[in-house]
Amino acid sequence: MLLDIVLHPDERLRQMCTPVTAMNDRLDDLFTHMFETMYEAEGVGLASTQVGESLRFCVVDVTDDRSKPMVLINPQVIAGKNSITWKEGCLSIPEVHAEIVRPKNILVRALDRDFKPIEFEADELLSVCIQHEIDHLNGKLFIDHLSLLKRKRLMDKYNKLQREQE
Ligand code: NI
Repeated sequence: MLLDIVLHPDERLRQMCTPVTAMNDRLDDLFTHMFETMYEAEGVGLASTQVGESLRFCVVDVTDDRSKPMVLINPQVIAGKNSITWKEGCLSIPEVHAEIVRPKNILVRALDRDFKPIEFEADELLSVCIQHEIDHLNGKLFIDHLSLLKRKRLMDKYNKLQREQE
């Protein structure tokens, strides 16, 4: 089942999500639908707020052949080093891309789909993607990392595109 993706500037993208305290069938079904929705939209990550939820979880798969789906529940970056510049986009802000600087190598702690603790290192796109998704869980969007001027320029373009599609 494909879910509706919440689009900027919807306020639901700005909420601070609360931790998941237990797994249940509803969440497990939701993860399945989130993967379907993310793959259909050709994205590499999708966070709870983007499908109208307000708990701390996201789905991620940065592989070309879509072979490494990951559910991350209550994800945290516990260490980061070096930096990487990546041209990011977001399924909630279609057609908008901008270079963002973030830590390149990170150590991630989370719970998996079975609610088991996991800890792993991530770099390159996986690192960027997980940080981008965790931002979503804190009500933050990638455009918030830009200077005011740059953000305004991008949003003018985005608003124009959105109007044209109405
Ligand atoms: Ni996003």
